[in-house]
Amino acid sequence: MDREKITLTGAQETMLATLYGRALDSRSPRSVLHDDAAARAVRRIDYDFRKTGVKGTSAVGVALRARQLDEWTREFLAEQRSATVLHLACGLDTRVHRIAPASTVRWIDVDFPEVIDLRRRLLSEPDGVDYRTIGSSVTEDGWLQGIPADRPTVAVFEGLSMYLREDDALRLIRSITARFPSGSLLFDVYGTIGIRLQNRVPAVRNAGATLHWGVDDPKALESWAPGLTLLDSVRSVDVPGLDHLPRSGRLGMRLLAHIPVLRDIGRILRYGFRTPAGHTEQQSQQR
Ligand SMILES: C[S@@+](CC[C@H](N)C(=O)[O-])C[C@H]1O[C@@H](n2cnc3c(N)ncnc32)[C@H](O)[C@@H]1O
Repeated sequence: MDREKITLTGAQETMLATLYGRALDSRSPRSVLHDDAAARAVRRIDYDFRKTGVKGTSAVGVALRARQLDEWTREFLAEQRSATVLHLACGLDTRVHRIAPASTVRWIDVDFPEVIDLRRRLLSEPDGVDYRTIGSSVTEDGWLQGIPADRPTVAVFEGLSMYLREDDALRLIRSITARFPSGSLLFDVYGTIGIRLQNRVPAVRNAGATLHWGVDDPKALESWAPGLTLLDSVRSVDVPGLDHLPRSGRLGMRLLAHIPVLRDIGRILRYGFRTPAGHTEQQSQQR
């Protein structure tokens, strides 16, 4: 079978680093995610994955972050059986396969058109779920308008926030929370120091990508949209499952957790939202 040559650059290319992290994790006897589809996709890609610099500790870190976001997504779907999932900046993440949602769920994977094209060639579509993809930047107007606003909605976006500028993040969060009657936002962020440090890691530097938006105070985002509430904030240095890290990684994390300026280097966040009095943007447009 021909392998896929990669011509993507910048933020789009960085999805190969996270894919590779999950693939490496799946090969470990103590795998966190067991994402075998990631390993199969890696085998079909013609790319020098050493360029990502991902190995050992960073691979487990990627898997732990993904597992936390998977768990929160599952919890949402356990409470809202008929829901919409917006999986933004999906890259080549097989979250829909890992979660295997019920047929009552509408699942939408969104990323740039070139990424979605590659995704279609490399990954199978899930069975038994109302599934579709949208090829668009999440900062464009329009992609959200085609999605019915009839259900509680969870937007999960992993490895996206840092590539956005703050004003784009604000518009994105406002437009999602204004469109759907209620739901949840699940995403990871770096603090401002984390942004500075992560701009130097090989996965970002070698792809020619630049990280922009950092969040030091997750609670402050509550003022961005009416009805937006911070429910959980998990530091990367405290994410459940650190015992899966190699010994050096565990020690490193323990050290970081004790250094005040470094312990907030990254976080995984869960917000809930409820549009005041159930008044959605779609209802406003219908008037
Ligand atoms: C680090 S990768 C993460 C991919 C995936 N979430 C994962 O964990 O494997 C960053 C992803 O963000 C996507 N991305 C960055 N900016 C975006 C935007 N404005 N709209 C849509 N996707 C974007 C890139 O194309 C890429 O797939």
